[in-house]
Amino acid sequence: MILMNNFQAEPAELIQQEIAAVEKVIKSGWYILGNEVRNFESAWASRCGISYAVGVGNGMDAIEIGLRALNIGPGDEVITTPMTAFATVLAIIRAGATPVLADIDPITALLDPASVERCLSSHTRAMLLVHLYGQVRNMDTWIALCKHADIHLLEDCAQSHLASWKGKVAGSFGDWGAYSFYPTKNLGTMGDGGAIITNSEELANQARVLRNYGQSQRYHHSELGLNSRLDEMHAAILTARLGWFDFFTARRKEIAKAYFDGIKNPLVHLMAEPVDSESHVYHLFVILCDERDRLNNYLREHGVDNLIHYPIPVHHQVPCKSIRRDLKGLIHAEAHAARCLSIPCHPQMSDGEANKVIEVINEFK
Ligand SMILES: Cc1ncc(COP(=O)(O)O)c(C=O)c1O
Repeated sequence: MILMNNFQAEPAELIQQEIAAVEKVIKSGWYILGNEVRNFESAWASRCGISYAVGVGNGMDAIEIGLRALNIGPGDEVITTPMTAFATVLAIIRAGATPVLADIDPITALLDPASVERCLSSHTRAMLLVHLYGQVRNMDTWIALCKHADIHLLEDCAQSHLASWKGKVAGSFGDWGAYSFYPTKNLGTMGDGGAIITNSEELANQARVLRNYGQSQRYHHSELGLNSRLDEMHAAILTARLGWFDFFTARRKEIAKAYFDGIKNPLVHLMAEPVDSESHVYHLFVILCDERDRLNNYLREHGVDNLIHYPIPVHHQVPCKSIRRDLKGLIHAEAHAARCLSIPCHPQMSDGEANKVIEVINEFK
């Protein structure tokens, strides 16, 4: 089976570096909020071209902490997309704020500005963009829209590590960006991890307080915070993996290019190509098919693993059925959920495996 991810096929040299990183932490005798977290935070901030990164427990907490750091909570609305990981919307709800769902652009599956505008109200405090599948697009439009509406621009970058638009990296356009380092992400650890990136010293300080029980100094709790700290072990692993990041991202792009060049089947549609090579990092390579479920079974039968991101849009999830949404409906999100399918696109895939995926898809009748 050609897998969606294959960690066992990672280079032996990387595995040795990870073992050395873990050994260093064990021998240091310091496991929470120490040098490894500080080093990784500064390395990640520097790669993002931003002033501060604050390591937290996971990508979902990064969003919750980011919202709380901006005092966005009860009574405040945050506009986002129904075509995302449930965690995006759950984090808004956990911060005490109210999510409002706008529809997507059918070509990119990213938020549609016209729909976002229809969702604005006097309670809107922010728009949380999700750079879905690894794509960063139209940031000029989003910056202008948020400025005009006088709301915060926030970025969920869990799928878009270092994707960039006109030279600026995902997460650096608005007040903050929230990253996840879940194992399958473009930069992932061997467990959970996340970070908030920001140019605001005040927001970074507030995020540091919130991740650590709301503790401003030892045993002084100025807030009711979370326990959500990136730990030393994961920070050390992430530092080791960061050394391979560019190489792995380049490989994802090569596979995507092979798919764009090679997949030719009238029953299968490709999504929009990125505007340039930096604006998509291919966390996922998504294809569209009217007979998606038949294609899903066919691929598995022919040795090609696949997943659906996402089969159920957020507004159809049981706890979210009454969430306010675009009055015109979320038609494109629903159509996308019925047709989308993610095919293997990870750095350890060989050319032979990519060609096999193309061949199998092209033979689908
Ligand atoms: C778009 C998006 N947002 C948020 C998250 C949550 O990240 P984590 O699993 O690290 O909490 C994910 C992870 O799946 C994601 O894909």
